[in-house]
Amino acid sequence: MSKILVTYYSRTDNTKQVAEAIYDALEGEKSIKPFQELADRESDAFSLVFAGFPVHSHSVPYAVEEFLKSTPEGKKIAFFSTHGSLTGSRLSREALENATVLSAKARMLGTFSCRGRVSPQALEVLMKSPEHRAWAEMAASAATHPDASDLADARDFAAWILTLAAQD
Ligand SMILES: Cc1cc2nc3c(=O)[nH]c(=O)nc-3n(C[C@H](O)[C@H](O)[C@H](O)COP(=O)(O)O)c2cc1C
Repeated sequence: MSKILVTYYSRTDNTKQVAEAIYDALEGEKSIKPFQELADRESDAFSLVFAGFPVHSHSVPYAVEEFLKSTPEGKKIAFFSTHGSLTGSRLSREALENATVLSAKARMLGTFSCRGRVSPQALEVLMKSPEHRAWAEMAASAATHPDASDLADARDFAAWILTLAAQD
């Protein structure tokens, strides 16, 4: 029987909401925990790990890097992320590509991402910076995300990864 872990890093709960949607869609023995609460090598006991994070500075948040680097060889893993940038943009894909490189030894089954509301405090700071203003104006329209449709997609993603893991 496979054991599945959903783990995530989330500062303002966007990624947490996606993590919970993925967790809801999973069948069988499963656990959900923020990265910070995982004991050292705790994830080794799981045959499949869903790991999620918000995009920070176009990449994986520092707090998540170590976890990804320590992913054991051959571990089945799937990534999910939330980001302020437009869906499908290069900026939103880069972080997932970085995550895949960081955990290169793992058996990566798939990735999912959706937009997530950028905190008003962060937007306010970025709007004042000439360098970041244009990005902040674009990212402001993420305010309604993740929405019900994003969370439904996250559940479908979870079910699809389960199918792939079973065939693997
Ligand atoms: C410090 C910081 C840096 C961020 N950098 C980016 C970025 O480079 N690209 C992007 O699309 N979103 C960026 N965002 C927006 C977050 O990725 C987005 O709001 C995410 O949904 C937050 O998830 P959380 O609520 O789980 O923390 C940034 C947010 C913060 C707070």
